[in-house]
Amino acid sequence: MDLNSYLGAIENFLQKSTYGTQPAELYEPIRYIMNLGGKRLRPVLVLLGYEIFDENWQRVVPASVAVEVFHNFTLMHDDIMDKAPLRRNHATVHTKWNENIAILSGDVMLVKAYEILLQGVEDRFLRSALQKFSRCATWVCEGQQWDMNFETRNNVSITEYLEMIRLKTAVLLGFALELGAMLAGANEVEQEKIRLIGENMGMGFQLKDDLLDVYGNPEKFGKQVGGDIIANKKTYLLIEALQNAQNEIKTELLNWLSVKEFNPQEKVQAVTAIYNQLGMREKTETIIQNYFQKAFDSLAEIQATENAKEKLRNFMTWLIERES
Ligand code: IPE
Ligand code: IPE
Ligand code: MG
Ligand code: MG
Ligand code: MG
Repeated sequence: MDLNSYLGAIENFLQKSTYGTQPAELYEPIRYIMNLGGKRLRPVLVLLGYEIFDENWQRVVPASVAVEVFHNFTLMHDDIMDKAPLRRNHATVHTKWNENIAILSGDVMLVKAYEILLQGVEDRFLRSALQKFSRCATWVCEGQQWDMNFETRNNVSITEYLEMIRLKTAVLLGFALELGAMLAGANEVEQEKIRLIGENMGMGFQLKDDLLDVYGNPEKFGKQVGGDIIANKKTYLLIEALQNAQNEIKTELLNWLSVKEFNPQEKVQAVTAIYNQLGMREKTETIIQNYFQKAFDSLAEIQATENAKEKLRNFMTWLIERES
């Protein structure tokens, strides 16, 4: 699918961003994580959201990059919280430098995200953009705290899980589309419709992330496969497995959740084997499809040129199939 013109413009703007120089320990990690690439899907969503309502998407490239900087800030802190060694096939910031550096670089990235937004958004949209961005950023923090709380609970329900991933992940994809639509002059009703498309897509997207964390190809995925199993993350796979497992399998699963000392590889293999026996992969694929289908259905009802909608549809199809 041709997103190359979007991606080129996003990279071009990113290359011009310097963030700051001294102390180097504060700014170097920002350049490091931003230069590791990634799919850049949130800025792409801002541009897609814009193009549904207006063709001059180049105008909002700076604003789209603010969302990417915010996303990378959340990753830098998330990797500390999740004790993740790898991100985009490279060492995470807190392992390459240290945790304090990752905390403070992350903090300043959040500030930079606001600065870039401030510079990139026209005055007439600025108050609304900042309000919605702040609301979204708060939700992400709430979701992240639920995610951490759930690590030590074994009775998390699917409903609680779905709300947690909505907050930590889906609302930002929603905001990205909403911001694009807003800056293109869409009214509040249209903005909300498109935001919800992003949110449903974001639900499918995080479910797929959970799936790839177990079944992904490590090189393509670029993160430690099995990280969620090691950390007792309450993913869709684990919650469903806990609900479906019986007898010895249930005992074995609960045992893996309670052992404090273990060989990580052995735990990942054993829990994955349980998921396989219980058909968790297929079950997760089904719910991923359902969320993306909701997004496709709502997109069909948006009033816009078929051409613009087609682009977003293709993008979603690519997201469903993604391996990284
Ligand atoms: C990772 O996001 C964090 C999640 C919400 C799952 P991405 O999968 O978009 O990460 P990059 O930016 O492409 O590396
Ligand atoms: C991350 O969820 C969501 C945010 C960063 C806000 P994960 O912890 O699953 O993301 P990855 O897998 O580390 O990218
Ligand atoms: Mg996390
Ligand atoms: Mg993580
Ligand atoms: Mg993950």
